[in-house]
Amino acid sequence: HGQKPGGAKGLRFTPVAPNLQDAVVIPDGYRQDVVIRWGEPILRGAPAFDPEKQTAKAQAGQFGYNNDFLALLPLPGERGRQVLVANHEYTDEILMFRGYDAENPTREQVEIAWAAHGLSAVVVEEDRRSGKLTPVPRHHLNRRATATSEFRLTGPAAGSDLVKTSADRTGRKVLGTLNNCSGGTTPWGTTLHGEENFNQYFANSSSATDKRYGIGTGATERKWERFDKRFDVAREPNEVHRFGYVVELDPYDPDSTPRKHTLLGRFKHEAATVRLTSDGRPVVYTGDDERFDYFYKFIGSKRMRKGSGRSVREHNLSLLDEGTLYVARLTGDSPAIEIDGTGKLPADGEFDGAGVWIPLVTADEDGAVSHVEGMSAEEVCVFTRLAGDKVGATKMDRPEDIEPNPHSGKVYVALTNNTNRGVGANAKADEANPRNANKHGHVLELTEHRNRADSLRFGWSLFLVAGDPEDPSTYFAGFPKESVSPISCPDNVAFDDHGNLWISTDGNALGTHDGLFGVATAGARRGELKQFLTVPNGAETCGPLIQDRRVLVAVQHPGEITGATVDNPASAWPDGPGKIVRPAVVAVWRADGADIGV
Ligand code: FEO
Ligand code: CA
Ligand code: CA
Ligand code: CA
Repeated sequence: HGQKPGGAKGLRFTPVAPNLQDAVVIPDGYRQDVVIRWGEPILRGAPAFDPEKQTAKAQAGQFGYNNDFLALLPLPGERGRQVLVANHEYTDEILMFRGYDAENPTREQVEIAWAAHGLSAVVVEEDRRSGKLTPVPRHHLNRRATATSEFRLTGPAAGSDLVKTSADRTGRKVLGTLNNCSGGTTPWGTTLHGEENFNQYFANSSSATDKRYGIGTGATERKWERFDKRFDVAREPNEVHRFGYVVELDPYDPDSTPRKHTLLGRFKHEAATVRLTSDGRPVVYTGDDERFDYFYKFIGSKRMRKGSGRSVREHNLSLLDEGTLYVARLTGDSPAIEIDGTGKLPADGEFDGAGVWIPLVTADEDGAVSHVEGMSAEEVCVFTRLAGDKVGATKMDRPEDIEPNPHSGKVYVALTNNTNRGVGANAKADEANPRNANKHGHVLELTEHRNRADSLRFGWSLFLVAGDPEDPSTYFAGFPKESVSPISCPDNVAFDDHGNLWISTDGNALGTHDGLFGVATAGARRGELKQFLTVPNGAETCGPLIQDRRVLVAVQHPGEITGATVDNPASAWPDGPGKIVRPAVVAVWRADGADIGV
């Protein structure tokens, strides 16, 4: 029993030191447990996980691979239970299949990979005395969506020629969702899921618009195009136009068809987070995780309805199909000469300035209009990056999660890194992206004009400039650097009930493992960043959720280190040596049962 740790309320824990342990390392006085692992059966009839005898049919009823975004939704009427929703971003075949031959995958391996992608919903039960959560298999709300299940396109591009294929002449019915990274939970009780690096699944493209999306001219790494021609752009040019959207799932209706909302644009959506205007209309923030790409905001025109009846839910599921999509342009308030790309603070003491939301496309019940010269509404929805290019949006250092703080209304934008900033002919550092060859990333704090969700202009300043605090280019909202934790590559963000910002990292360029951090956003301790946990070898920290009594993280791609295989693993997590490495969700709670960090 040492001294009680100090810190802002909610962050009173002893920080975890940077480390290289092959474990989830948590603060003293906390406990942890795995909630669910890749392969655990969740649907009726699904078998127990056996990596030596895995089949596509089994996988389609089991928790998928590489858990990323997490949501927990209430389950009224079932005491102590919640619905856990998880994204399964992608597959690591070399760590899934013993003796995997990357040049010659088998049909069974490819179909297992399809079934391991997508989304899971699984009811979990709380332990009364701890933060432990246990899955409830075969619950009627448990479901899987995979790379082959049915989705419906909605919004201006649905039904357009740009999204029709030989298998779907309607341009409305899509099979599968791919590369779901992070997401958001809506106030009307659904979940949003960003389709991020969908480009990697499509082969043999030759078009300039596909090139802007990073779609390759040759074979793909996973060779899916050999098993389904829709992944071969040369044979099915429009299939790729049906991925790269924000997906909406209704976890309370296991028979519902999830939607892909084209009005939110098509790009590498990291996530999509929602707030409401003062009159109850949805506002969605979403970033395009690419070096020199943009972040966006959607303002809906229809009001959310309260209640859970069928017609209310149907109305709310259409909220993201009417309104306007905007892209951000930022300007700094310090002279360019003071922004020298080293990250040294300008004379006014802050990287800060103003911004505007530039309209791209508006849709209402009568149809859609484009605000971009030379592009139709459908084109703006399908080739959104090109629309952003045309209107002069600001090229950012990889916009990952963007999320409004429910306490203050301020919006936080994680900009994970951009080692190409200022290199060669690329854009040089500017006040919003102030370091050339930006290895460690930064976090931008955005204040909508009058703090109104539907404002069309905003102020901004950098909240954190990440790295080792001893690096003079780092900045922690002005907090003294002696007592903050080092951080690199901010990716996902979340808030606790006290208004603290929690940040998980992906790709720590300081040489230690990725992890989860908490930082106060207001008060005397604003900027005091503290590390809460670290993840095992090769893993990224995802999906943080901060509840009163528990922290949930998705440990994604443990053991993903070059050269590692099933027989030569780089991690023994979570089940120890000799067991296959499995991505898994972890819950952390305080041993004494009290709230986190108080
Ligand atoms: Fe899937 Fe941008 O991280
Ligand atoms: Ca300034
Ligand atoms: Ca991410
Ligand atoms: Ca990332």
